[in-house]
Amino acid sequence: MEITIKKSYEDMSKAAANIIADAIRQKPDIVLGLATGSTPLGTYKELIRMHKEEGLDFSKVTTFNLDEYYGLSKDHTQSYYYYMHKNLFDHINIKEENIHIPDGTACNVEDYCSKYEQQIKECGGIDLQILGIGTNGHIGFNEPAEKLFASTHLTDLTEDTIKANSRFFDSIEKVPKKAITMGIGSILKAKKIMLLANGKNKATAISHLINQNYITTKVPATFLKTHNDVTVILDEEASGFNKNCCKDCCKE
Ligand code: GLP
Repeated sequence: MEITIKKSYEDMSKAAANIIADAIRQKPDIVLGLATGSTPLGTYKELIRMHKEEGLDFSKVTTFNLDEYYGLSKDHTQSYYYYMHKNLFDHINIKEENIHIPDGTACNVEDYCSKYEQQIKECGGIDLQILGIGTNGHIGFNEPAEKLFASTHLTDLTEDTIKANSRFFDSIEKVPKKAITMGIGSILKAKKIMLLANGKNKATAISHLINQNYITTKVPATFLKTHNDVTVILDEEASGFNKNCCKDCCKE
């Protein structure tokens, strides 16, 4: 696992965008796995800038999003479909037919989830998967539990996640209780994975990932340790780095 610690959120976002842009330039028909949440917003902003100012070309790029709230339609302002269009897709030259986001209104969910997995396979698999991390260590919406699911599935959200994500909704009651998410196996099938985290509320989850040697379903992100090409980009706060600390662990 390659770990990079950047001074600020802006630096983290630029480093991540550079990795994505290099990957697109190397393989213009790349398949990207994309994440939502506040973490990748700066990265998407930088990718939009690169498209507008440097001609970064998304015309052959295919994308698969990790997850979507179950019960929210595409036009709901808190749906991940809405988020992705507002924060990235509407500003770059990606083809609408190359965009895949789980449908939060799918009826036969089991069938729908198998089809989503099948579509990823038919596109040749994900080349580069972007991930954020929940404060409880979830990736996508794979929540801490006794068992984790391998492939795309419908899941219950934990109280922790509902509370954490309520900041985007008018009230906690409006946060959906379920979501469709890629499974841990779907994520681990990606050829390369890049996880981003910023802010001190992510430091504990990140510590389970980078400072401990165990893998546990209680912190789903720890499964990334079984993958052979993971890059983790953090800001100082998420890394647990504290410039005022007198111990060697935090010295530059
Ligand atoms: C959300 C998403 C995840 C995201 C995580 C962190 O619930 N399902 O894909 O990585 O939680 O969100 P944020 O970046 O807003 O902290």
